[in-house]
Amino acid sequence: MSSFKIAVLPGDGIGQEIVAEAVKVLRKVAEHSSATFEFEEAPVGGTAYDLTGTPLPEATLKLAQSSDAVLLGAVGGVKWEALDYSVRPERALLGLRKELGLFANLRPAKVYPQLVDASPLRPEIVSGIDVLVVRELTGDIYFGQPRGVETLPDGRKRGFNTMVYTSDEVERIARVAFEAARKRSSKVCSVDKANVLECTEMWRGEVIRVHADYQDVALSHMYVDNAAMQLIRWPRQFDVIVTGNIFGDILSDEASMLTGSIGMLPSASLGGKTGMYEPIHGSAPDIAGQNKANPIATVLSAAMMLKHSFDLTTESDWIERAVEKVLDQGIRTADIAAGGQAVGCDAMGDALCRAIDEVVG
Ligand code: IPM
Ligand code: MG
Repeated sequence: MSSFKIAVLPGDGIGQEIVAEAVKVLRKVAEHSSATFEFEEAPVGGTAYDLTGTPLPEATLKLAQSSDAVLLGAVGGVKWEALDYSVRPERALLGLRKELGLFANLRPAKVYPQLVDASPLRPEIVSGIDVLVVRELTGDIYFGQPRGVETLPDGRKRGFNTMVYTSDEVERIARVAFEAARKRSSKVCSVDKANVLECTEMWRGEVIRVHADYQDVALSHMYVDNAAMQLIRWPRQFDVIVTGNIFGDILSDEASMLTGSIGMLPSASLGGKTGMYEPIHGSAPDIAGQNKANPIATVLSAAMMLKHSFDLTTESDWIERAVEKVLDQGIRTADIAAGGQAVGCDAMGDALCRAIDEVVG
C-alpha cells in the first residue's frame, strides 16, 4: 500500500472553494483505492501575506518541498494589487515554480462533446479539439534580469524586462514536448517570434537540433501572432504546442476558451522532485465566496497529480470518467451552463464524488 503526502495550498479568492472540492474528490478516490493520501494545508498568496507579511512563507515552501505533490488553488486579488512586486501574491506562485524546479508546465485543452455548445466558437471548429500546451515555466521575461522601473534624469520613467533563455533550458522543455507528443498524435508545433526576437530565434534553432533525436515526431514552427490566430481559425491542426513562458501564458488562456470555459483547464508543473498541480485560471475575486466557481479544472489537476506524481493511472482515469459522467448527466456550474440551470461549486464536487462511486462500482 502506498501513501502520499499532498501539500494543499488553496490561496486566494475561489482558490479556497475549488481546492476543497478537489480534496473531497481525492478522499473519495482513496475510499476505492489501496493508496492513501495525507493532506496538509498551508497559506499562500495574498492570504499568506495578510497572515505573515509574505506571500510565500518559509513554512509553506518547506511543506511543498517535503511533500509528494502540491495541490494549489489560485493566488491574487484586487486587495493586493497595490503592493510592491516583491510581496505580490503572484510572487508566491513564481517562487514555488522556481524553488521546486518546475520548468515544464503541461496544459491540456480538450473539448468535451457535452460542452461543444458552451464554446463561443462554432461547433464545427471546436469539436474534437485535443491540444496540449507545453509551457516553459521557470525562464523567459518572467525571471530575466535586468528588470524594473527607473526614473530618467528628465523625469520620464523607463520600465524594462528581459526575455532570456539559455540553450539547455530550451533543450529540456523541447524534450518534454517531443516525449509527450509520442504518447499522443506525434506532432509538435514550436511557437516563437523568431522574426523579431533573437532570444526566440535561438529557441527555434535549439528545438530543431533536439528534434534530431525525435525523427518520428513531426515538427513545425509558428510565430506567436500567427499561432494566436490559427488557434481560433483551425484549432484541430494542433497536437502539442511547445513555447516559452510568456507566450505559453497567453496561448493557454486562449486555448481554454475553445473548450467552453477556463474553468475546465487543469495543469501540471513538472521537472523537480515534487510536482505542482493547479487550474490554469485565477482567483476570480468577482465570484469568490459565492459558491459559483467551477471546481472541474482543479479536480482534473488532481487527476493529473495521480497520474504524473503518484503513477496511479487507474485512479486518475476514475476522476476523468467521473467528469464525463457528470457532464453527461447535464450537471453544470454557471460558467458552462450557457444560461441554463447551474449548480454550486460544492454540489458539483458532490456530483463528482457520486460519479466516482458509479464509475468504480
Ligand atoms: C498562470 C497565471 C500566472 C502566470 C500568474 C498568476 C502569475 O496567469 O499560471 O497562467 O502568469 O503564470
Ligand atoms: Mg495565465
